[in-house]
Amino acid sequence: EALNAGPKPLAGKKLLLTAGPTREALDPVRFMSNHSSGKMGFALAEQAVALGAEVTLVSGPVSLATPAGVTRIDVESAEQMLEAVLAALPGQDIFIGCAAVADYRPLAVADNKIKKSNERMVVELVRNPDILATVAQQQPRPFTVGFAAETDNVEQYARDKLARKGLDLIAANDVSKPDQGFNANHNALTLYWADGHKSLGHSDKGQQARLMLDTIADHLACQ
Ligand code: CTP
Ligand code: CA
Repeated sequence: EALNAGPKPLAGKKLLLTAGPTREALDPVRFMSNHSSGKMGFALAEQAVALGAEVTLVSGPVSLATPAGVTRIDVESAEQMLEAVLAALPGQDIFIGCAAVADYRPLAVADNKIKKSNERMVVELVRNPDILATVAQQQPRPFTVGFAAETDNVEQYARDKLARKGLDLIAANDVSKPDQGFNANHNALTLYWADGHKSLGHSDKGQQARLMLDTIADHLACQ
């Protein structure tokens, strides 16, 4: 394939990434989740292989084929995703948190299917661990990249996440615009790092992934 013929700026590099949604169980037959398709993470995995990386993809439930050459680990919940990421982390050069991890999970998971009763029902939720921030706190740690899906104040919220989670780079996504972000085939990312930024224009997720990985490779080469 023509994709695999070009330069290999990630040759010899190990990349770990998360993709897709998580599912947070309420009982044996129900869960909370979100609309993440996994397309951006799978595009990053595919393009990273083309650029020469050794790729491990920890994925929530998605209906996408595993790109050739990618080691895929399937998980459901945020807690399972964190466990799989920490197990795969030693020796990784790059981590990209692309998954739409549920911020909360139901406090209690019922052993049996919950029967309906009252007209109203309250479900108590608890915060999930932050997988990306946990990776960024490891010592040693890989070059750590996050995403920020925002509907407003995109640069401010993205830079805030970059600093608060201690990331090397963040890819911001304005999800208020049509045909970019959640479930779309295209994206229009802007990359931010401590002393710079780069807009990637509007293109399909494969092209966005390629441009993003080129920028990451440039940063690694300068370390
Ligand atoms: N992320 C993560 N673990 C979580 C929540 C988020 O690893 N429990 C990662 C996502 O994969 C993404 C980044 O953190 O790379 C930002 O996710 P986002 O939902 O935009 O930010 P949050 O920190 O969850 O803040 P909020 O949802 O309040 O904007
Ligand atoms: Ca969130």
